[in-house]
Amino acid sequence: MAKPILLVTRQLPAPVEARIAASYDARFSRDDAPLSPDDIIAKAAGADGILCTITARLAAPLVAAVPPRVRILATFSVGYEHIDLAAAQARGLVVTNTPGALTEATADITLLLLLGAARRAYEGETLLRSGNWCGWAPTQLMGTELHGKRIGIVGMGRIGQAVARRAQGFGLEVHYTGRRPRELPADLQARFHLSDDTFLPLCDVLSLHLASTAETRRWLNADRIARLPKDAIVVNSARGDLVDDDALIAALRSGHLAAAGLDVFTGEPALDPRYRDLTNTMLLPHLGSATVDTRCAMGFRALDNLDAFFSGTAPLDRLI
Ligand code: DGY
Repeated sequence: MAKPILLVTRQLPAPVEARIAASYDARFSRDDAPLSPDDIIAKAAGADGILCTITARLAAPLVAAVPPRVRILATFSVGYEHIDLAAAQARGLVVTNTPGALTEATADITLLLLLGAARRAYEGETLLRSGNWCGWAPTQLMGTELHGKRIGIVGMGRIGQAVARRAQGFGLEVHYTGRRPRELPADLQARFHLSDDTFLPLCDVLSLHLASTAETRRWLNADRIARLPKDAIVVNSARGDLVDDDALIAALRSGHLAAAGLDVFTGEPALDPRYRDLTNTMLLPHLGSATVDTRCAMGFRALDNLDAFFSGTAPLDRLI
């Protein structure tokens, strides 16, 4: 039987591409450049499925123009705000993602951002690398001690819980907010707050773990930032557009917030240039899932979904 034809929009880890090659007639990306909408349409002609990533912006007009033979879009990501699901549903496409595969790696990088922001890692590294370090000093680059402080988690899903577990290990007391309290595993002690009024004022650290939706965009706005304690730290490893950049930058400049650790940015890779001048930030280029193990696991999970679909069974991670 002929193998299904699969368009793969970006270069993937070698073991993932090897598995793709074994089961699919694959159209790989050899230069790894993000494809324009026109390129995606052109390259998908005659394909049965598309394996895409968060850099493929599959807005409604593009989804509507996807060649007729394509029946499935499998995204190599947990986030799926880059795909217009309503348009995909109207077009009769199956869409899958990769939940669970990147939980631990993303939680790790959240702690890296938190520790880096709290302990002024960027300033310390700059001092050292610039050759200006004159030696140890009692008041040099004093940061924020985490032990005994409170972390507020916004979005206590898989990643939020993995962050909470790590935060407990650093001696932080865990609080969280969301639409409803979660049934949490017994080893996780966390207090739920329905209202911002009780939640925000106790967040010495605020960590964002929401999906990007019409309701969550700019969740962290000037009003909520003002209700955080002075010298709070903000961490975002979820999506850049959860944050109102003007408000966050103003609070980092004024000193209301001590620091921020950010792995994601609105409009990335073109982040707001003012972040680059803020020394009280730890900035990373969307590396949350960037470990060899996790990137392979994401690819294998996307392939499990594609294999299921093409063998006539239900993909585990079907979004529509
Ligand atoms: C995802 O999967 O949504 C991540 O942001 C990619 O690392």
